Amino acid sequence: MNLSIGNTATNSSNFPAIFQNPSFLPRNNSSITPKILSNSHPKTLIITASSNSSSNNNQNTPTNSSRDHRWSLSGMTALVTGGTRGIGLAIVEELLGFGAIVHTCARNEVELDNCLKSWENQGFNVSGSVCDVSSWEQREKLLDTVSSVFYGKLNILVNNVGTNIRKPIVHFTPQEYSTLMTTNFESVFHLSQLGHPLLKASGCGSIVFVSSVSGFVSLKSMSLQGATKGAINQLTRSLACEWAKDNIRSNAVAPWYIKTTMVEKVLSNEDYLEEVYSRTPLCRLGDPAEVSSLVAFLCLPASAYITGQIICVDGGMSVNGFYPKMDFQ
Ligand SMILES: NC(=O)c1ccc[n+]([C@@H]2O[C@H](COP(=O)([O-])OP(=O)(O)OC[C@H]3O[C@@H](n4cnc5c(N)ncnc54)[C@H](OP(=O)(O)O)[C@@H]3O)[C@@H](O)[C@H]2O)c1
Repeated sequence: MNLSIGNTATNSSNFPAIFQNPSFLPRNNSSITPKILSNSHPKTLIITASSNSSSNNNQNTPTNSSRDHRWSLSGMTALVTGGTRGIGLAIVEELLGFGAIVHTCARNEVELDNCLKSWENQGFNVSGSVCDVSSWEQREKLLDTVSSVFYGKLNILVNNVGTNIRKPIVHFTPQEYSTLMTTNFESVFHLSQLGHPLLKASGCGSIVFVSSVSGFVSLKSMSLQGATKGAINQLTRSLACEWAKDNIRSNAVAPWYIKTTMVEKVLSNEDYLEEVYSRTPLCRLGDPAEVSSLVAFLCLPASAYITGQIICVDGGMSVNGFYPKMDFQ
């Protein structure tokens, strides 16, 4: 049984004359035919590639499909790391709201089970794995599970997990260095590598990294954490070029202070919080949903021509120059 997601009927003859030039047409002409599975997983759609080059409903190429289609993730499969709290939790729920089928992971089994139960009660299609993404073996196991849950095809990979150790560079121990590099950078490198065949097999893949403004500007006691995020930013750009031929997009979001458990302690200091406000043009903290909405946008067909970008979600912090209180007439 074939299912049409929105209005995907597009023919290259609908484009203005200039776009009829073969050099403007997508190089990968395989079309994407969503099919519903006949067996156990009733809500799962499998995206299969066919060689029919006369139609063009590939999500990462220009189409004149309907608005509904451009703003829907219906039937798409997604892996979001660290989906039980904070930004990751908001991302899982945002993607579900757009119709995606999600797998997530976290280390704490009780919290994961509670989240899975809550999503199930709301009628959402989410599965989960207990996994520490800083472990090479556990990452391999996670992707094996994802491959089997999603039948070898993954549309969306959100590399959300990251951690922080706040201290000056001179005080880092080898163990702390290793923890930060492994959790923040090695994990996203390896998960992307493991995810590549699944993203490619989906016919239209999208990776979103959760970076930080610390990857752009210097933040006190966060030089090493900032270096991991800077590395993520360059990986984002490089994968956009390296995997474009496989129709995989790669983008990142870079938040400033967002209200999550990770930053609860540091923000409980009122003087520090005051300094954060004074440095932030919008003069407030961000909400996880203000990050997840951008992540969802970067996964939607609506953003199909955006790749290699790192977008700050920071209330203007990263563009703030010198704005003294004193006014000049
Ligand atoms: N919050 C901010 O102000 C802010 C600002 C800039 C960037 N960011 C970035 O945003 C991302 C998410 O941060 P957050 O503030 O939402 O964090 P959070 O509130 O601490 O939530 C972290 C989530 O990731 C999971 N997790 C943590 N370490 C993990 C590991 N090693 N393996 C598997 N799962 C793990 C946690 O579950 P378990 O503990 O059960 O594993 C939880 O679900 C990070 O990359 C962070 O660098 C955050």
